[in-house]
Amino acid sequence: MKNLKIVNLDHFGRGIAKTDKTIFVEDALIDEIVDVEITTDKKKYSEGKVIKYIKKSPLRVASKCKYYDKCGGCNLLHISYEEQLKFKENKVKEIIKKFSGLDCVGKIVPSVQYNYRNKVTLHVNKKIGYYQKKSYDIINIDDCLIADKRINSLIKKLNNIDLNSIKKIVIRVTNKEIMLVITNGKINIDEFKEVDTIIVDNQILKGKGYILEEINNLKFVISPNSFFQVNRIGMINIYNQVLKYVDNSMNVLDLYCGTGTIGLYIAHKVKDVLGIEINESAIKDALINKRINNISNINFKLGDVGTVLNDNFKADCVIVDPPRFGLDENTIKNIIKIKPQKIIYVSCDPVTLARDLKILKKSYKILEITPFDMFSNTYHVESVILLQRKD
Ligand SMILES: C[S@@+](CC[C@H](N)C(=O)[O-])C[C@H]1O[C@@H](n2cnc3c(N)ncnc32)[C@H](O)[C@@H]1O
Repeated sequence: MKNLKIVNLDHFGRGIAKTDKTIFVEDALIDEIVDVEITTDKKKYSEGKVIKYIKKSPLRVASKCKYYDKCGGCNLLHISYEEQLKFKENKVKEIIKKFSGLDCVGKIVPSVQYNYRNKVTLHVNKKIGYYQKKSYDIINIDDCLIADKRINSLIKKLNNIDLNSIKKIVIRVTNKEIMLVITNGKINIDEFKEVDTIIVDNQILKGKGYILEEINNLKFVISPNSFFQVNRIGMINIYNQVLKYVDNSMNVLDLYCGTGTIGLYIAHKVKDVLGIEINESAIKDALINKRINNISNINFKLGDVGTVLNDNFKADCVIVDPPRFGLDENTIKNIIKIKPQKIIYVSCDPVTLARDLKILKKSYKILEITPFDMFSNTYHVESVILLQRKD
């Protein structure tokens, strides 16, 4: 299709053009005029990629990543970081307005643009790589613009070993340590002196089998199967926002607590905390974190929030940090019955957040919605919301 004018961006950062139907165009910006090859043609919409730019936007910047065309990781590298932040703030505003009728989204809190990721999952096909856009084909890489520099040094080194049998490689780093987790393979650990812990097919070949992160004098154990926020700066920004909202009169429930990080971070400022989490490995880490930080006013419970939570729980403040699908109906019902004065909702998906706020706003006033950048160069955006009980 020739001479399509891009009139808007969708929430995945794709350009939108209108003909007799809507066409979503990757790597196209508002006011650009482009020739497009249609890659998917559905009844109500099409998807396409640019084959020629007739007119480019002044907001377009050259991507610094040599894999950007093909790699499925980033989607906003063709706009400056400043514009990315505007896009994300607007995205949260639009979604929250459209699906929950609220108009109180504040300014986005930035992170850093490059080298922020403390964890990468790499697939192997002769060389190491990421999945390509919308496929399980692997694009080989030796450097990733958004990964921690120590991860990139390891990727270069790993690309030069015999990768024959290896299927998957996960590299995680903290401010002090490095962990390498290999699936289905062999590795000579002597070649990786800089790595603190090496695990191959669930066997610890070197180190403790976990790595330690340190934030504000708190130590956090990270095991290979536990969730941990991937951007240290973004994580600290979000946790500080949560900390701002709690006080010493509060019994706190920390739902979807992972390795207990939020609860442990705020424990010194509140009466007590109970964390609930479904992942056994994360709960084990949380209990170690409690012990090594000498924090006594926190406890953890293993289980599915949706079934464990009921109206016998007592809390002045409930913190929720669910995965992308947000809160299930049962959980929302129970939180409302528990009647906490405050709810602090940490969200990684504005659409499910808006759906949940639409229900919660009947019993709670939404005082603040603050977007946070956590995944620079991608369309993902986090938010922290403060809700106050109406009666
Ligand atoms: C976005 S992470 C947040 C973890 C933690 N708050 C943090 O900041 O590191 C979501 C967590 O919810 C857990 N989870 C997912 N579904 C759950 C459920 N139904 N019940 C309890 N925990 C769940 C995941 O294992 C994961 O640790």
